Amino acid sequence: MSAVRMDGKALSAKVRGSILAETEELKKQGVTPGLAVIIVGNDPASEIYVRNKERACEQCGFYSEKYALPEETTQEELLGLIAQLNESPAISGILCQMPVPKHISEQAVIDAIDPKKDVDAFHPVNVGKIMVGNFDFVPCTPAGVMELLDEYKIDPKGKECVVVGRSNIVGKPMSMLLLHRHGTVTICHSRTQDLAEVCRRADILVVAVGKAGFITPDMVKEGAVVIDVGINRNAEGKVCGDVAPEVMEKASYMTPVPGGAGPMTITMLMKNTLKAAKLQNG
Ligand code: GUN
Repeated sequence: MSAVRMDGKALSAKVRGSILAETEELKKQGVTPGLAVIIVGNDPASEIYVRNKERACEQCGFYSEKYALPEETTQEELLGLIAQLNESPAISGILCQMPVPKHISEQAVIDAIDPKKDVDAFHPVNVGKIMVGNFDFVPCTPAGVMELLDEYKIDPKGKECVVVGRSNIVGKPMSMLLLHRHGTVTICHSRTQDLAEVCRRADILVVAVGKAGFITPDMVKEGAVVIDVGINRNAEGKVCGDVAPEVMEKASYMTPVPGGAGPMTITMLMKNTLKAAKLQNG
């Protein structure tokens, strides 16, 4: 059996269409969602992500501002810009593309963004809200995974959910979202003993480790739902996920890379920006 491919590109287009429709309604009331994207330095991957975010803003009818700052920007200068954007009525959401250069503290940047404009949901206030289950913004990658599960009518309730990776951006919030939906959640990481054995328990396996082909068919239960959050390049330079393609033959549903979880991430950023605009004007 070959798994059903969970089409993040198609779902993304559908969700962006409904965001655009809602934005047009909002504009009639004089409110335009606005996103400020800051990029410091010239990391090529970050430049691609930022370009995709700008394009998504256009597709959703948003106003956007891009700040491309040089590598040598000081932390003080960056925090000054964020303070200015926190006060700007045209800006509903602020995103500083990570990573930032080493002389700038990532946490200081996250802490400086007004939690009401924190469309990444990285600020400790928003992280805390996710923990207690009362949140406005959901971190984009885990939010996209949940939308994919919902679209394919996969309910985590009562299921064994295994999340591989414990990052603040993906693994930890992903686990909380699955827990809020009544999944039985296990978080695995680099020190987990017998990772394959734990993964084989999963009805829903979410993988976010950043290693090409890390999950092999022997680590997957027959009929499992496999969500691949990895974006890597293999030896030939081709974009690939954390899950080996042969897992397709064992899973019941699986996200392809590219075209699965990836496109959903930016769409969820748009959803958070729309929500921020509504909250600030509601
Ligand atoms: N760098 C990689 N992923 C992300 C993300 O989701 N948000 C931000 N701000 N930077 C990133």
